[in-house]
Amino acid sequence: MNPDASTIAAGAPIEVDLSPIAEGQDIKVFWRGKPIYISHRTKKQIDEARAVNVASLPDPQADDARVKSGHEQWLVVIGICTHLGCIPIAHEGSYDGFFCPCHGSVYDTSGRIRQGPAPTNLVVPPYQFVSDTKIQIG
Ligand code: FES
Repeated sequence: MNPDASTIAAGAPIEVDLSPIAEGQDIKVFWRGKPIYISHRTKKQIDEARAVNVASLPDPQADDARVKSGHEQWLVVIGICTHLGCIPIAHEGSYDGFFCPCHGSVYDTSGRIRQGPAPTNLVVPPYQFVSDTKIQIG
């Protein structure tokens, strides 16, 4: 038995054109029914993410392990709080990253948990650059 078209569509990779996203802006797209945030980070946001002592983080992960080499200005994360699954708000919170209003989890400009009850960083979905201005998620 083959899956129907809607099932294939729900699991299929999606392509996203990044060229309309200005520096400092985010967009939200949906992949497999999940919200995906794509952030065009400013130099300041990248510098802040990289200035952190990784060992001090609740879920230690270097910024360069969360973005693609040569495309450091782009952060792509699944917009589901790792606490209980609310959708965080972009550009909120004291680290200029994401803030989850449900119970106060605060993520930084790399999507890493910095404060609050969420146990782990926002998840980076599988994706790749298919050109300088286009990614394929999934
Ligand atoms: S679901 Fe986000 S802080 Fe609880």
